[in-house]
Amino acid sequence: GNEPTVSITVVGASGDLAKKKIFPALFALYYEDCLPKHFTIYGYARSKMTDAELRNMVSRTLTCRIDKRENCDEKMEQFLKRCFYHSGRYDSEENFAQLDKKLREHEGERVSNRLFYLSIPPNIFIDAVRCASSSASSANGWTRVIVEKPFGRDSESSSALTKALKQYLEEDQIFRIDHYLGKELVENLSVLRFSNLIFEPLWSRQYIRNVQFIFSEDFGTEGRGGYFDHYGIIRDIMQNHLLQMLALFAMETPVSLDAEDIRNEKVKVLRSMRPLQLEDVALGQYKNHTKGGVTYPAYTDDKTVPKDSLTPTFAAAALFIDNARWDGVPFLMKAGKALHTKRAEIRVQFRHVPGNLYNRNFGTDLDQATNELVIRVQPDEAIYLKINNKVPGLGMRLDRSNLNLHYAARYSKEIPDAYERLLLDAIEGERRLFIRSDELDAAWALFTPVLKELEEKKIVPEYYPYGGRGPVGAHYLAAKYKVRWGDLTVDQ
Ligand code: BG6
Repeated sequence: GNEPTVSITVVGASGDLAKKKIFPALFALYYEDCLPKHFTIYGYARSKMTDAELRNMVSRTLTCRIDKRENCDEKMEQFLKRCFYHSGRYDSEENFAQLDKKLREHEGERVSNRLFYLSIPPNIFIDAVRCASSSASSANGWTRVIVEKPFGRDSESSSALTKALKQYLEEDQIFRIDHYLGKELVENLSVLRFSNLIFEPLWSRQYIRNVQFIFSEDFGTEGRGGYFDHYGIIRDIMQNHLLQMLALFAMETPVSLDAEDIRNEKVKVLRSMRPLQLEDVALGQYKNHTKGGVTYPAYTDDKTVPKDSLTPTFAAAALFIDNARWDGVPFLMKAGKALHTKRAEIRVQFRHVPGNLYNRNFGTDLDQATNELVIRVQPDEAIYLKINNKVPGLGMRLDRSNLNLHYAARYSKEIPDAYERLLLDAIEGERRLFIRSDELDAAWALFTPVLKELEEKKIVPEYYPYGGRGPVGAHYLAAKYKVRWGDLTVDQ
């Protein structure tokens, strides 16, 4: 039959993201038989490379699923045969027109859909979009463009970027990625909330004391200092990844699972939030640290970072949603690099049991005795609920236990990478997990004033040792709202 074909062009094919995430995700989709029958993949970048060289580069990035190694080599061979390379400048309509010609040869008489993945620095976004849309758009099918952050660095530059993109593309052609939305447990948030009776009724100021969104990495900005220094941790992690999780966590029930219905609710909750205040922020920057004879570098030891940089590599923040459901509930965020663990999680701390019999008689530490729901996004995905339980035996002693849904134990299937889901959705035109422009505006509106103030006032971050637990300022901020950060090490 005359089924359509899809041409996927990775613009910036030799970059880090392409090698680490995009090509491996495309191969995984191919391996799982999720790509359309007719597809072609093009790498596009400035350097001269042959198809064979591209294939060689790509092949070194591919892996097979642990649970399905058979046929892997064969599958890789087949996949690589469908990968090609075109060398061109990002701002040359002529070079994109040459690409167009090559794509047409592969597409033949079929309806040709085209997906461009822009894996390039922001200063050349617009040029590439202009050239791709004017010279390499599909003539008879759809043309979609995937873009990744940074989407500007404040409200003004973000809307300028959106405006520029919209000179060449319609909103429904733009797929803005926040790869946290492609993570399994983030997608599961809505299932957990809306398909279980026992959570949603508790999901409000009436029962929840505070909610925490925690991101930590056990490595620094190694190699990415040049990019990072211009943005800092608030723009790199909070304004997007953590805020997206917050929006899904706190939004009202959407009318349906349609992308527009879900995104309408996300925008609503974001617009109900108070812009972040300076007194509700704690900042940190890592300094060098020697442990076991090894010296770990300070952030400013990176050659691409100015010696006197004040860019935060850690931030904690308290945010508030001024609506009926969440009035007064602190939503705390914490994000940092070069800390002691690598993890991302959501913690929901519930209120105390009113008039709790057991507190009265046994003097249980109030804070320890509250229920806490933990959604561990990564690593080692899990959802667990901390409850109080009687220690078995003749005495009456309570302790804390976890009702635990541990993904590795429950599901034998490996969890797909976020980029697999997002690429597949973009190919299928499913927009639920992509950021709409009004959503992006609402997200920037919350952070732009404080980001400007931090820069104007040259606020000095608190220095914390590489590999440590981060600045104590985060604890003072939490204490101000009578919150204690949840801690992995006391969960077991
Ligand atoms: C990116 C940030 O968006 O997310 C990086 O720019 C960060 O600084 C990365 O390391 C974390 O993603 P993941 O999926 O490894 O948790």
